[in-house]
Amino acid sequence: MYIKGSTNIVGLIGHPVEHSFSPPMHNAAFEALDMDYAYVAFDVDPLKLKSAVEGAKSLNVKGFNVTIPHKIEVMNYLDEIDEVAALIGAVNTIDFKDMKGYNTDGIGAVKAIEEVTSIKNKNVVVAGAGGASRAISFYIAKYGADSLTILNRNVEKADSLAGDISASDLIGNVGSDSISEIDGYLGDADILIDTTPVGMHPNVDAEPIASAHSMHDGLVVFDAVYNPNETVLLSEAIKASAKPVYGIKMLLYQGAESFKIWTGREAPVDVMEEALKKTLGM
Ligand code: ATR
Repeated sequence: MYIKGSTNIVGLIGHPVEHSFSPPMHNAAFEALDMDYAYVAFDVDPLKLKSAVEGAKSLNVKGFNVTIPHKIEVMNYLDEIDEVAALIGAVNTIDFKDMKGYNTDGIGAVKAIEEVTSIKNKNVVVAGAGGASRAISFYIAKYGADSLTILNRNVEKADSLAGDISASDLIGNVGSDSISEIDGYLGDADILIDTTPVGMHPNVDAEPIASAHSMHDGLVVFDAVYNPNETVLLSEAIKASAKPVYGIKMLLYQGAESFKIWTGREAPVDVMEEALKKTLGM
C-alpha cells in the first residue's frame, strides 16, 4: 500500500494507542482488496477530544475507531448514535458520513460465538459487569438469547446491568447473581462468556472463574481475554470437551464490522485474522 493524493483516511483515537493491533489488521484488509484507504492511530489527549473529532470531520476522515478513555465522552460530539450503542452508552466506531456512532465490540463477541453456535433461544451466562460485559450483554439480548444471567464479584453491579438490559425490552429473562455461584448456573447454560480479566497475561495461572468439572460437553465457552490465546478458562473448557471460542475472534469481528460500516464492503476476515495473529505474535 502506498499513500496517494486520493487516499481515504480511517483510524483510531485513544490514549494511549501505540500498542493497538487495529492498524495492521485494517491496513492488511485494504491492501488485500486493493482499496485506496489507510488506517492510522492518533493519541488524543482527553481534553482535546472535541477538537479532534471536529478536526477529523473537517479533514474528511472517513471513519474512526474509538478506544479508552474516549468511548463515552465521544458520544457528545456525534449527530446520531446507533440504538444498541445508545443503550450500551459507549461508542467504538464513528462513521463520518453521517457523524453516527456504533458499538462493534459487542457485535464482535456475538459474531465470534456465532461461528460455533447460534445465540437465538440459548441460555447465556456472562461473567463480569464492567464495560466489556455491558457491550456484549446488550448484543446477546439483541441476538435473541432466551435467558441472560450476569454474574459478578460485586453483585450490585451485576444487578444494575441486568436491570438496564431488562428495561431495554430486548430480552425478557434477565437475572444476576454472585460469580461465586457460577457452578450452579452452568448445568443449564448453553454459552458462557467471561469478560473478566482473570487469566490475562501475566496472571496466566490464575484460578479460572469455572473449572472443567462444572462444564458439560455442549457448552460453548468464550473468553474475551486474548493474551494468552488459550486462557486457563479455555483450557478447562477443552478438558470438559466443551467448545472454546478464543478472544482474538472478538477483536477480529469488531474490526470487520467497523470496516463494513466505513466502506460498505464485506471485510476480508481471513486476511485480517492473519494480520492480527502476526501482530499478537501467534
Ligand atoms: P472491562 O471494560 O474490561 O469490562 P472493567 O469495566 O474494569 O473492565 O470490568 C472488569 C470486570 O471484571 C468487573 O466486572 C470486575 O468485577 P467487580 O465489578 O467485582 O470488580 C471483574 N473482575 C476483575 N477482576 C476480577 C477477579 N479477579 N475475579 C472476578 N472478577 C473480576
